[in-house]
Amino acid sequence: MLEKKDILYYNLVGDNMDVSILVNKNNLLNASYVPRNLVFVPSISEHLDSHHQIFVEKETYSHFIKMNEKCPMKMYIVSGYRSYQYQQDLLEYYYKKDGEECYSYVASPGTSEHQTGLAIDFGFIDASTNMPVSQEVDQYKSAFDWILKNAHLYGFILRYPEGKEKITGYKYEPWHLRYIGIESAKEIYKNQETLEEYLERKSCYVKRV
Ligand code: DAL
Ligand code: ZN
Repeated sequence: MLEKKDILYYNLVGDNMDVSILVNKNNLLNASYVPRNLVFVPSISEHLDSHHQIFVEKETYSHFIKMNEKCPMKMYIVSGYRSYQYQQDLLEYYYKKDGEECYSYVASPGTSEHQTGLAIDFGFIDASTNMPVSQEVDQYKSAFDWILKNAHLYGFILRYPEGKEKITGYKYEPWHLRYIGIESAKEIYKNQETLEEYLERKSCYVKRV
């Protein structure tokens, strides 16, 4: 269990956010933080729930669109910006389902980078059925592999890589991308680092999980 004193609380408002911001179990956003530059993501399939409106940070979305144009399977955004309250509801839902285990795959409110608008969970549209698929990693392995090898060219990193669970604090999530800008993403990819390791190497202030 983390001591309160070990936790860094950002005091961000509006546009005052660096694209390389570290948000994790030790680096928290305040409850009231809402990024100002969110854009609406139109639903791309009639099979997707139209009641759930998706927003992401503007630059993140424009880079996602470029990546989607080149990806061998059509991508869609399953989850983008999440408010503090939404994250709280999500945590409560998964806590009821899996108990303490849920902390290995869902962030507590204030600790989710989805609150920055820079994180996206993506899925694919299966061209043969026109149906959205999101976490069938084995079945759509080549498309997930394409993302793994190419996302950095569009400024994204796979935020919770396999084998880095002790550093990120989360299980492997092949569908969770984090926009950080092309230059940093390329460097992180080249070094096969996590965001925590990259920022530490750059001597930025990092509170490890
Ligand atoms: N699944 C990631 C860790 C989140 O809830 O932000
Ligand atoms: Zn995610």
